[in-house]
Amino acid sequence: MSSATINGRSQILPTDPDALLVDVLRDTLQLKGTKLVCGAGVCGACTVLLDGVPVCSCLLPVRAAAGKSITTVEGIGAQKLHPVQKAFMALDALQCGFCTPGFIVEATAFHDRWRQEQASRGGAGAPSREAIGAAMSGHLCRCSAYDNIFRAIGDACAGRYDSDLETSPRVEARDKVTGAARYTVDIQHDGQLEGLILRSPHAHARVTALDLAHALAMPGVKAAVSLLEKDSEVRFVGQQIAAVAAVDRKTASTALAVIGVVYEQLPSVIGVKAAVADGAPLVYTGKSSPPNGSEGPVAPSRWRGNVRGPSDAFSHKKKKAKTWIADARATNNPLLFEGTFRTAVQQHTALEPHAAVARFDGEQLTVHVSTQAVFELRGKIAKHFKLDVENVRVVAEHIGGGFGSKAALGAETTVAIQLAQMAKAPVRVAFNRHEELSVAGYRPAAEIRVALLPDAKGSLKALSMRSFGDSGVAVNSTISGLARLIYPAEAKELIDFDVVNNLPPGAPFRGPGGPPMAFALEQAIDEAALRLKVDPIQLRKRWDTYPNRRRLYDWAASLECWRSISTPEMQTGRYRRGVGVAAGYWLYLWQLGSKVELSVRNGRLVASTAVQDIG
Ligand code: FES
Ligand code: FES
Repeated sequence: MSSATINGRSQILPTDPDALLVDVLRDTLQLKGTKLVCGAGVCGACTVLLDGVPVCSCLLPVRAAAGKSITTVEGIGAQKLHPVQKAFMALDALQCGFCTPGFIVEATAFHDRWRQEQASRGGAGAPSREAIGAAMSGHLCRCSAYDNIFRAIGDACAGRYDSDLETSPRVEARDKVTGAARYTVDIQHDGQLEGLILRSPHAHARVTALDLAHALAMPGVKAAVSLLEKDSEVRFVGQQIAAVAAVDRKTASTALAVIGVVYEQLPSVIGVKAAVADGAPLVYTGKSSPPNGSEGPVAPSRWRGNVRGPSDAFSHKKKKAKTWIADARATNNPLLFEGTFRTAVQQHTALEPHAAVARFDGEQLTVHVSTQAVFELRGKIAKHFKLDVENVRVVAEHIGGGFGSKAALGAETTVAIQLAQMAKAPVRVAFNRHEELSVAGYRPAAEIRVALLPDAKGSLKALSMRSFGDSGVAVNSTISGLARLIYPAEAKELIDFDVVNNLPPGAPFRGPGGPPMAFALEQAIDEAALRLKVDPIQLRKRWDTYPNRRRLYDWAASLECWRSISTPEMQTGRYRRGVGVAAGYWLYLWQLGSKVELSVRNGRLVASTAVQDIG
């Protein structure tokens, strides 16, 4: 029997030779401040001090910790906050906070070492950005709080946070820098089971038989459910087939392996080019409804093979736009710009995976979910499971990033509830990093064809944008429609198509459709500025009539980097530098169901609302 000193206390270590330190800390000792993200030594979220040296606990077999001293984030500043913790709080060097414990552990070690070395040399001051960067190079922050992280570590090393003062613009900052903040993946009820999902190895297949009996008969397995669609078809690698709940992850994983599935493979089509080719296999032939790859309702639309559309509700005098552009093309009008732009998919990969913990207490269902739509989800869960909404409670105390992909009622939630219903016990479903990167969503890729026509006086006469969204099996990739915003034109033809193919579904991603649209349109405007021989900022100001943004254009034009923009003669040699301008924009929406409760407690105004900070 071996032991280690963990946060100053002697602890007996498990004898399992495969046990990893991160699992023992989190699951056995309930030290949930140490986070598990990549499990591969890449992100640094699981960092702890082993005899004072930062290590990734996801790579360290627990037996390697025998006889050593381990410090987790809970052991740092337990009595009094460390200067690094105070600096992170004061300078808001965090957002969702899921990466923060790992950063804090590493940064405190760096801080203590650096100050010791400085003291021995009689030096002072702050370390260079390069030195901080080198020390933190094993850490990732998906919310990109890097700038403030650099500042916080530098200022702490310079001694600016040595006093007892604790301040922060963020109410939950202290919990996040000490590891006390509880995320969905940290929830642990008594008797809680672990749920895992069996996924399709085929891009397109029909499941002709599914046998859960062997899995259900295994010791430790408490529930097994089919997750097949009504038509029993799977349309992408990774689509869910079935799920089990067991006493631990290892047992659940073994149970998945004994589920019997018989597949009849069907022809599949991967990628937009293949999906629009003559005779391409069809992704949807029956009545299955495709998932929604964007935000907002999926309006009815025409289908031709694997192409859905056109959706053109945001057009304005589209026939005129089409005619004017066709005429300009026919007459070789030099002001007409036409171009095709392509954008790739973009992964959300929030550090906290999609996760849910479902628990029934009689009729009452409590679901902890890593969601960015806590209030809406309550209604969706009640509807999906035909429950009284009053009996459903959704909790999302802290969310380790969402970026749009955690807005819907996802499989992690429905599966956790289904398994909890069957097992009559709380169940947690948390995606692993592989699932997170493959089936949890991405910003759809797109091909965007733009035609932009100014008139002879330099006004915006016509714009045509035709977008083909690649959202795998999902639809509703609205890109062109957003070009209705900010630059009015006499006429706009804005058309969106979805091209479905046998890849996992895309999901809403920060300003869905906005960045690909702006990427294409803003470059077209630059090209127009070149042809009209007008300064690109001034052209935007001319075309955009909104007063606040016009003030923004003036501000941008006054910047030194714009005023001293390189002249062509400076642009020689192998490396050239340029300064560009582009606008990014999206809709803002009122959520009419939003409610805020205001009260005065102990002389302080308290605003309460069912909303969550998602990083
Ligand atoms: Fe261990 Fe990422 S480095 S979880
Ligand atoms: Fe770093 Fe969210 S604050 S990942």
